[in-house]
Amino acid sequence: MISVFGSHVGPDELREVEQCIDAQWLGQGARCAAFEEGIRARLGLDNFLFVDSGSNALFMAVELLELPPGSEVIVPTFTWVACAQAVLLAGHRPVFCDVDPDTQNATVDTIRDRMTSKTGAIMVVHYAGKPVDLEPILALGLPVIEDAAHAIDSRQGGVACGARGDVGIYSFDAVKNLTTGLGGGLTVRDAARAERAKKLRYCGIGKSGFQAVSTDPNRRWWEYDISDVFIRMVPADVNAAIGLAQLKRLDDLQARRRAIWERYQAAFSSVDAIRTPVDAAADERHSYFTYFIRIPERDRVARALLDQEIYTTLRFHPLHLNAKYGASAPLPNAEALNECGLNIPLHPRLSDDDVEQVIDAIVALVR
Ligand SMILES: Cc1ncc(COP(=O)(O)O)c(C=O)c1O
Repeated sequence: MISVFGSHVGPDELREVEQCIDAQWLGQGARCAAFEEGIRARLGLDNFLFVDSGSNALFMAVELLELPPGSEVIVPTFTWVACAQAVLLAGHRPVFCDVDPDTQNATVDTIRDRMTSKTGAIMVVHYAGKPVDLEPILALGLPVIEDAAHAIDSRQGGVACGARGDVGIYSFDAVKNLTTGLGGGLTVRDAARAERAKKLRYCGIGKSGFQAVSTDPNRRWWEYDISDVFIRMVPADVNAAIGLAQLKRLDDLQARRRAIWERYQAAFSSVDAIRTPVDAAADERHSYFTYFIRIPERDRVARALLDQEIYTTLRFHPLHLNAKYGASAPLPNAEALNECGLNIPLHPRLSDDDVEQVIDAIVALVR
Protein backbone atom coordinates (compact mmCIF):
# COMPACT_ATOMS: atom_id res chain seq x y z
CA MET A 1 0.00 0.00 0.00
CA ILE A 2 1.29 3.48 -0.86
CA SER A 3 0.52 5.64 2.17
CA VAL A 4 -0.82 9.16 1.87
CA PHE A 5 1.17 10.84 4.66
CA GLY A 6 4.50 9.95 6.21
CA SER A 7 7.91 10.91 7.45
CA HIS A 8 11.34 9.40 6.92
CA VAL A 9 13.49 8.24 9.83
CA GLY A 10 16.70 6.22 9.62
CA PRO A 11 20.20 5.73 11.05
CA ASP A 12 20.62 9.37 12.13
CA GLU A 13 17.50 9.24 14.29
CA LEU A 14 18.49 5.81 15.60
CA ARG A 15 21.91 7.11 16.68
CA GLU A 16 20.38 10.06 18.56
CA VAL A 17 17.84 7.81 20.32
CA GLU A 18 20.59 5.32 21.16
CA GLN A 19 22.60 8.10 22.83
CA CYS A 20 19.52 9.06 24.78
CA ILE A 21 19.10 5.48 25.98
CA ASP A 22 22.82 5.18 26.78
CA ALA A 23 22.46 8.28 28.94
CA GLN A 24 19.50 6.61 30.73
CA TRP A 25 17.61 9.90 30.37
CA LEU A 26 14.33 9.61 28.49
CA GLY A 27 12.32 12.45 30.04
CA GLN A 28 12.61 16.22 29.66
CA GLY A 29 16.25 17.30 29.78
CA ALA A 30 19.18 18.49 27.71
CA ARG A 31 17.88 17.12 24.40
CA CYS A 32 14.57 18.96 24.74
CA ALA A 33 16.51 22.17 25.45
CA ALA A 34 18.78 21.59 22.42
CA PHE A 35 15.77 20.86 20.19
CA GLU A 36 14.04 24.04 21.38
CA GLU A 37 17.13 26.09 20.60
CA GLY A 38 17.52 24.37 17.22
CA ILE A 39 13.95 25.14 16.16
CA ARG A 40 14.16 28.68 17.52
CA ALA A 41 17.33 29.36 15.52
CA ARG A 42 16.19 27.63 12.33
CA LEU A 43 12.88 29.51 12.21
CA GLY A 44 14.32 32.78 13.54
CA LEU A 45 11.86 32.88 16.45
CA ASP A 46 12.20 34.95 19.64
CA ASN A 47 11.25 31.91 21.71
CA PHE A 48 10.09 28.34 21.20
CA LEU A 49 8.58 25.92 23.72
CA PHE A 50 8.50 22.18 22.98
CA VAL A 51 5.35 20.40 24.23
CA ASP A 52 3.90 16.92 23.83
CA SER A 53 1.59 17.61 20.84
CA GLY A 54 0.37 20.26 18.45
CA SER A 55 -3.17 19.68 19.72
CA ASN A 56 -2.10 20.54 23.26
CA ALA A 57 -0.13 23.52 21.98
CA LEU A 58 -3.40 24.83 20.54
CA PHE A 59 -5.09 24.55 23.93
CA MET A 60 -2.17 26.36 25.56
CA ALA A 61 -2.34 29.04 22.84
CA VAL A 62 -6.01 29.80 23.50
CA GLU A 63 -5.44 29.76 27.27
CA LEU A 64 -2.54 32.22 26.98
CA LEU A 65 -4.79 34.85 25.38
CA GLU A 66 -6.83 35.07 28.65
CA LEU A 67 -10.02 35.98 26.78
CA PRO A 68 -13.20 36.82 28.73
CA PRO A 69 -15.12 33.56 29.42
CA GLY A 70 -17.51 32.64 26.62
CA SER A 71 -15.65 34.63 23.95
CA GLU A 72 -16.07 33.65 20.34
CA VAL A 73 -12.95 32.47 18.54
CA ILE A 74 -13.09 32.27 14.75
CA VAL A 75 -11.76 28.94 13.51
CA PRO A 76 -11.52 27.84 9.86
CA THR A 77 -13.85 24.90 9.36
CA PHE A 78 -11.32 23.09 7.15
CA THR A 79 -8.94 22.02 9.90
CA TRP A 80 -8.10 19.48 12.57
CA VAL A 81 -10.61 18.98 15.40
CA ALA A 82 -8.15 20.14 18.07
CA CYS A 83 -8.52 23.70 16.74
CA ALA A 84 -12.16 23.72 17.89
CA GLN A 85 -11.63 21.50 20.94
CA ALA A 86 -8.93 23.88 22.24
CA VAL A 87 -11.38 26.77 22.13
CA LEU A 88 -14.09 24.78 23.92
CA LEU A 89 -11.69 23.38 26.54
CA ALA A 90 -10.59 26.94 27.34
CA GLY A 91 -14.23 27.89 27.98
CA HIS A 92 -14.96 29.71 24.73
CA ARG A 93 -17.03 29.16 21.59
CA PRO A 94 -15.61 28.26 18.19
CA VAL A 95 -17.30 30.12 15.34
CA PHE A 96 -16.44 28.46 12.07
CA CYS A 97 -15.47 30.43 8.97
CA ASP A 98 -15.17 29.34 5.35
CA VAL A 99 -11.94 28.92 3.40
CA ASP A 100 -10.74 29.92 -0.03
CA PRO A 101 -11.38 27.00 -2.40
CA ASP A 102 -8.02 27.39 -4.15
CA THR A 103 -5.71 27.69 -1.11
CA GLN A 104 -7.94 25.99 1.49
CA ASN A 105 -6.96 28.86 3.80
CA ALA A 106 -9.21 31.30 5.68
CA THR A 107 -9.12 34.82 4.25
CA VAL A 108 -9.85 38.23 5.70
CA ASP A 109 -13.25 38.12 3.96
CA THR A 110 -14.31 34.70 5.25
CA ILE A 111 -13.20 35.78 8.74
CA ARG A 112 -14.92 39.17 8.61
CA ASP A 113 -18.17 37.42 7.64
CA ARG A 114 -18.23 35.64 11.00
CA MET A 115 -17.10 38.46 13.31
CA THR A 116 -19.45 39.74 16.02
CA SER A 117 -19.09 41.96 19.08
CA LYS A 118 -18.14 38.79 21.02
CA THR A 119 -15.24 37.81 18.77
CA GLY A 120 -12.20 37.59 21.03
CA ALA A 121 -9.61 36.03 18.73
CA ILE A 122 -8.96 34.56 15.30
CA MET A 123 -7.28 31.26 14.51
CA VAL A 124 -5.77 30.68 11.09
CA VAL A 125 -4.30 27.49 9.62
CA HIS A 126 -1.56 27.50 6.98
CA TYR A 127 -3.12 24.59 5.10
CA ALA A 128 -0.56 22.19 3.62
CA GLY A 129 2.06 24.81 4.43
CA LYS A 130 0.77 27.43 1.96
CA PRO A 131 1.01 30.67 3.97
CA VAL A 132 -2.25 32.42 4.85
CA ASP A 133 -2.43 36.03 3.63
CA LEU A 134 -1.88 37.30 7.17
CA GLU A 135 -1.40 41.06 6.80
CA PRO A 136 -5.10 42.01 6.35
CA ILE A 137 -6.10 39.53 9.07
CA LEU A 138 -3.66 41.06 11.56
CA ALA A 139 -5.04 44.48 10.58
CA LEU A 140 -8.45 43.46 11.98
CA GLY A 141 -6.88 44.20 15.37
CA LEU A 142 -7.82 40.99 17.20
CA PRO A 143 -5.42 38.47 18.77
CA VAL A 144 -4.36 35.89 16.18
CA ILE A 145 -3.33 32.27 16.74
CA GLU A 146 -1.38 30.84 13.80
CA ASP A 147 -1.69 27.08 13.41
CA ALA A 148 1.52 26.26 11.57
CA ALA A 149 1.22 22.48 12.16
CA HIS A 150 1.80 21.92 8.42
CA ALA A 151 4.13 24.87 7.98
CA ILE A 152 7.44 24.24 9.78
CA ASP A 153 9.39 25.37 6.68
CA SER A 154 6.94 28.02 5.43
CA ARG A 155 7.71 31.69 5.27
CA GLN A 156 6.01 34.87 4.18
CA GLY A 157 7.98 38.04 3.55
CA GLY A 158 11.00 36.21 4.99
CA VAL A 159 9.25 35.56 8.34
CA ALA A 160 8.46 32.02 9.54
CA CYS A 161 4.79 31.08 9.62
CA GLY A 162 3.76 31.06 13.26
CA ALA A 163 5.94 34.05 14.19
CA ARG A 164 3.62 36.92 13.30
CA GLY A 165 0.49 36.13 15.27
CA ASP A 166 0.17 36.42 19.06
CA VAL A 167 0.86 32.69 19.37
CA GLY A 168 2.03 30.24 16.70
CA ILE A 169 1.83 26.49 17.09
CA TYR A 170 3.66 23.61 15.37
CA SER A 171 3.21 19.83 15.21
CA PHE A 172 5.90 17.15 15.09
CA ASP A 173 3.63 14.11 15.00
CA ALA A 174 4.59 10.95 13.14
CA VAL A 175 3.67 12.19 9.65
CA LYS A 176 4.78 15.81 9.81
CA ASN A 177 7.60 17.36 7.75
CA LEU A 178 9.77 17.24 10.89
CA THR A 179 8.77 14.45 13.26
CA THR A 180 9.61 13.72 16.87
CA GLY A 181 7.21 10.75 16.92
CA LEU A 182 4.79 12.74 19.01
CA GLY A 183 5.28 16.39 19.79
CA GLY A 184 4.34 19.98 19.18
CA GLY A 185 5.43 23.43 20.15
CA LEU A 186 4.63 27.06 20.30
CA THR A 187 6.12 30.49 19.91
CA VAL A 188 4.62 33.39 21.84
CA ARG A 189 5.09 37.02 20.80
CA ASP A 190 4.58 38.65 24.20
CA ALA A 191 7.49 37.95 26.59
CA ALA A 192 5.33 37.74 29.75
CA ARG A 193 2.99 35.27 28.05
CA ALA A 194 5.98 33.24 26.90
CA GLU A 195 7.14 32.98 30.55
CA ARG A 196 3.66 31.90 31.61
CA ALA A 197 3.64 29.22 28.91
CA LYS A 198 6.71 27.61 30.52
CA LYS A 199 4.85 27.36 33.84
CA LEU A 200 1.64 26.08 32.29
CA ARG A 201 3.51 23.30 30.50
CA TYR A 202 4.17 21.38 33.74
CA CYS A 203 0.75 21.39 35.46
CA GLY A 204 1.15 25.08 36.27
CA ILE A 205 4.18 24.50 38.48
CA GLY A 206 5.84 27.91 38.52
CA LYS A 207 9.01 27.06 40.39
CA SER A 208 10.38 23.65 41.28
CA GLY A 209 11.85 23.12 44.73
CA PHE A 210 15.32 22.75 43.20
CA GLN A 211 15.06 26.17 41.55
CA ALA A 212 13.75 27.71 44.78
CA VAL A 213 16.61 26.28 46.87
CA SER A 214 19.13 28.18 44.74
CA THR A 215 17.75 31.48 46.14
CA ASP A 216 16.61 30.20 49.56
CA PRO A 217 18.87 27.50 51.07
CA ASN A 218 16.40 26.83 53.88
CA ARG A 219 13.72 25.79 51.42
CA ARG A 220 12.77 22.13 51.14
CA TRP A 221 13.59 21.14 47.54
CA TRP A 222 10.63 18.77 47.23
CA GLU A 223 8.10 21.57 47.56
CA TYR A 224 7.00 23.64 44.58
CA ASP A 225 4.97 26.74 43.79
CA ILE A 226 1.82 26.27 41.74
CA SER A 227 1.00 29.35 39.69
CA ASP A 228 -1.85 28.02 37.52
CA VAL A 229 -4.30 25.14 37.25
CA PHE A 230 -3.29 23.41 34.07
CA ILE A 231 -2.62 20.02 32.46
CA ARG A 232 0.75 18.36 31.81
CA MET A 233 2.33 18.99 28.41
CA VAL A 234 6.01 18.33 29.06
CA PRO A 235 7.95 16.77 26.19
CA ALA A 236 10.56 13.99 26.49
CA ASP A 237 14.23 13.76 25.49
CA VAL A 238 13.61 10.52 23.60
CA ASN A 239 11.28 12.46 21.27
CA ALA A 240 13.62 15.44 21.12
CA ALA A 241 16.42 13.06 20.08
CA ILE A 242 14.46 12.12 16.95
CA GLY A 243 13.77 15.81 16.35
CA LEU A 244 17.44 16.77 16.61
CA ALA A 245 18.31 14.33 13.83
CA GLN A 246 15.33 15.47 11.75
CA LEU A 247 16.32 19.09 12.13
CA LYS A 248 19.73 18.36 10.58
CA ARG A 249 18.00 16.53 7.71
CA LEU A 250 15.16 19.03 7.22
CA ASP A 251 16.53 20.63 4.04
CA ASP A 252 16.93 17.23 2.37
CA LEU A 253 13.49 16.06 3.53
CA GLN A 254 11.95 19.28 2.26
CA ALA A 255 13.75 18.99 -1.09
CA ARG A 256 12.21 15.54 -1.58
CA ARG A 257 8.71 16.77 -0.68
CA ARG A 258 9.09 19.69 -3.03
CA ALA A 259 10.32 17.49 -5.91
CA ILE A 260 7.25 15.23 -5.56
CA TRP A 261 4.90 18.24 -5.30
CA GLU A 262 6.41 19.74 -8.47
CA ARG A 263 6.20 16.43 -10.34
CA TYR A 264 2.48 16.21 -9.49
CA GLN A 265 1.98 19.83 -10.49
CA ALA A 266 3.65 19.23 -13.88
CA ALA A 267 1.70 16.02 -14.48
CA PHE A 268 -1.74 17.27 -13.43
CA SER A 269 -1.75 20.89 -14.65
CA SER A 270 -2.68 19.83 -18.18
CA VAL A 271 -5.49 17.49 -17.04
CA ASP A 272 -8.76 19.45 -17.28
CA ALA A 273 -10.60 17.39 -14.68
CA ILE A 274 -8.02 18.07 -11.95
CA ARG A 275 -7.82 21.33 -10.02
CA THR A 276 -4.29 21.55 -8.65
CA PRO A 277 -3.17 23.36 -5.46
CA VAL A 278 -1.71 26.86 -5.36
CA ASP A 279 2.07 27.17 -4.94
CA ALA A 280 3.80 29.80 -2.82
CA ALA A 281 3.76 33.41 -4.07
CA ALA A 282 7.04 35.16 -4.93
CA ASP A 283 7.63 36.36 -1.34
CA GLU A 284 6.56 33.06 0.26
CA ARG A 285 7.93 29.59 0.97
CA HIS A 286 5.64 26.55 1.05
CA SER A 287 6.17 23.47 3.27
CA TYR A 288 4.54 20.95 0.89
CA PHE A 289 3.05 18.94 3.74
CA THR A 290 0.33 17.46 1.52
CA TYR A 291 -0.81 17.58 -2.11
CA PHE A 292 -4.50 18.43 -2.38
CA ILE A 293 -6.49 18.05 -5.61
CA ARG A 294 -10.11 18.72 -6.51
CA ILE A 295 -11.73 16.26 -8.88
CA PRO A 296 -15.20 15.21 -10.01
CA GLU A 297 -16.47 11.84 -8.76
CA ARG A 298 -13.97 11.98 -5.92
CA ASP A 299 -15.43 9.03 -3.99
CA ARG A 300 -15.31 6.72 -7.02
CA VAL A 301 -11.70 7.71 -7.74
CA ALA A 302 -10.63 7.31 -4.08
CA ARG A 303 -12.16 3.84 -3.86
CA ALA A 304 -10.60 2.76 -7.15
CA LEU A 305 -7.19 4.02 -5.95
CA LEU A 306 -7.60 2.02 -2.76
CA ASP A 307 -8.29 -1.08 -4.86
CA GLN A 308 -4.91 -0.37 -6.49
CA GLU A 309 -3.22 -0.14 -3.07
CA ILE A 310 -2.95 3.67 -3.22
CA TYR A 311 -4.26 5.24 -0.05
CA THR A 312 -5.77 8.72 -0.29
CA THR A 313 -7.95 10.69 2.09
CA LEU A 314 -9.66 13.98 2.74
CA ARG A 315 -8.02 16.26 5.29
CA PHE A 316 -10.26 17.70 6.65
CA HIS A 317 -13.87 16.80 7.21
CA PRO A 318 -15.23 20.34 7.77
CA LEU A 319 -15.72 20.95 11.48
CA HIS A 320 -19.01 22.81 11.11
CA LEU A 321 -20.59 19.62 9.72
CA ASN A 322 -20.00 17.85 13.06
CA ALA A 323 -23.19 17.72 15.15
CA LYS A 324 -21.07 17.94 18.32
CA TYR A 325 -20.36 21.62 17.65
CA GLY A 326 -24.02 22.58 17.16
CA ALA A 327 -25.58 24.50 14.29
CA SER A 328 -23.44 26.66 12.04
CA ALA A 329 -24.07 28.94 9.09
CA PRO A 330 -23.53 27.13 5.77
CA LEU A 331 -19.93 27.42 4.57
CA PRO A 332 -20.23 26.64 0.87
CA ASN A 333 -16.56 26.55 -0.16
CA ALA A 334 -15.64 24.02 2.53
CA GLU A 335 -18.78 22.02 1.78
CA ALA A 336 -17.72 21.87 -1.88
CA LEU A 337 -14.21 20.74 -0.85
CA ASN A 338 -15.89 18.03 1.23
CA GLU A 339 -17.33 16.63 -2.03
CA CYS A 340 -14.40 17.03 -4.41
CA GLY A 341 -11.18 17.32 -2.34
CA LEU A 342 -8.58 14.57 -2.11
CA ASN A 343 -5.16 14.42 -0.47
CA ILE A 344 -2.89 12.16 -2.48
CA PRO A 345 0.38 10.53 -1.35
CA LEU A 346 3.18 12.96 -0.59
CA HIS A 347 6.00 12.18 1.81
CA PRO A 348 9.75 11.56 1.67
CA ARG A 349 9.50 7.75 1.71
CA LEU A 350 7.83 7.66 -1.72
CA SER A 351 10.02 6.39 -4.54
CA ASP A 352 9.93 7.91 -8.02
CA ASP A 353 8.11 4.74 -9.15
CA ASP A 354 5.46 5.25 -6.43
CA VAL A 355 4.91 8.81 -7.63
CA GLU A 356 4.56 7.75 -11.28
CA GLN A 357 2.16 4.97 -10.25
CA VAL A 358 -0.02 7.51 -8.39
CA ILE A 359 0.01 9.89 -11.37
CA ASP A 360 -0.85 7.18 -13.93
CA ALA A 361 -3.65 5.81 -11.76
CA ILE A 362 -5.26 9.19 -11.12
CA VAL A 363 -4.99 10.39 -14.72
CA ALA A 364 -6.54 7.14 -15.99
CA LEU A 365 -9.41 7.37 -13.47
CA VAL A 366 -10.38 11.01 -14.07
CA ARG A 367 -10.26 10.86 -17.88
C1 LIG B 1 -3.89 21.81 11.13
C2 LIG B 1 -3.48 21.00 12.31
N1 LIG B 1 -3.42 21.59 13.51
C3 LIG B 1 -3.03 20.92 14.61
C4 LIG B 1 -2.69 19.59 14.55
C5 LIG B 1 -2.35 18.87 15.82
O1 LIG B 1 -1.07 18.34 15.87
P1 LIG B 1 -0.73 17.02 16.72
O2 LIG B 1 -1.02 15.84 15.84
O3 LIG B 1 0.74 17.17 17.01
O4 LIG B 1 -1.55 17.02 17.95
C6 LIG B 1 -2.74 18.92 13.32
C7 LIG B 1 -2.38 17.51 13.23
O5 LIG B 1 -2.41 16.87 12.23
C8 LIG B 1 -3.15 19.64 12.17
O6 LIG B 1 -3.23 19.05 10.97
